[in-house]
Amino acid sequence: MPLVSTDDMLRAAQAGGYAVGAFNVENMEMAQAVVAAAEKLRSPAIVQTTAGTLRYAPPELFAATVERLARNCSSAIAMHLDHGDAYELALDCARAGYTSVMMDGSSLPYNDNIEITHRVADAMRGYGIPVEGELGAVGGKEDARSADKAAEPAARYTDPDQAAEFALRTGVSSLAIAIGTAHGLYKSAPKLDLDRLSAIRARVSAPLVLHGTTGVSYAVVRECIARGICKVNVATDLRVVFTQAVRDALAASPEAIDPKAYLKYGRAAVQARVEEWILAVGSENKSI
Ligand code: 13P
Repeated sequence: MPLVSTDDMLRAAQAGGYAVGAFNVENMEMAQAVVAAAEKLRSPAIVQTTAGTLRYAPPELFAATVERLARNCSSAIAMHLDHGDAYELALDCARAGYTSVMMDGSSLPYNDNIEITHRVADAMRGYGIPVEGELGAVGGKEDARSADKAAEPAARYTDPDQAAEFALRTGVSSLAIAIGTAHGLYKSAPKLDLDRLSAIRARVSAPLVLHGTTGVSYAVVRECIARGICKVNVATDLRVVFTQAVRDALAASPEAIDPKAYLKYGRAAVQARVEEWILAVGSENKSI
């Protein structure tokens, strides 16, 4: 089917008490893996690329690849810009065929975050594209490799009252919140502020997004979903799984020279892991 926007997907998840996985991809093989997993489990899925990934290859290439994969898939697939860092990038993605964008102004002062997010949400309305905003600071840095990522101090977690005001003033369709997760690999299991999540959910009706999910146990992710998370972002886990599988394949066949011969192992490993995540977030058989 054609690419869909994240709006209906996330509203259905909110109503149904499950979440939709949003999987970061870096290449064609990872995109194939996500769509194949969604097809197999009849699950909706969000394929997403960061601003950093789009400096490696432009949005037109990812949009065309994923649009073609989605067209041959009977499950609903959305194409999302993850951690968009500029108004122009959101526009580039919209024009390229993305069906959802994030404007991450969370590193800016509060009023500047509202202003840029509102501006992007306004512009995207013309394209029928929903916008995810972010308030508070998710620790670590997306696209970084480091294994020493720590959660931000609690003082930088999302404030529930401010979240309600932010959602109202920006007009976002979904909101990423900071409750103790961090992007990348954790040194030790993170301790999430689940009561804060419930308090935010009580004040914000827009679907809530969990970032920095790699390293959070499936059980804790499920608890977050029970308390109102509707979109679960997974990036580092898939990068690790893909790279390890390719590394193993090359170690087993050092004479290999054909990329197809080893990238297929990365693809298969990512598909298997995405299937696990789909079952963990409860979106199997929920394709709209
Ligand atoms: P992880 O890299 O921890 O999975 O976080 C993913 C994410 O939040 C992407 O926006």
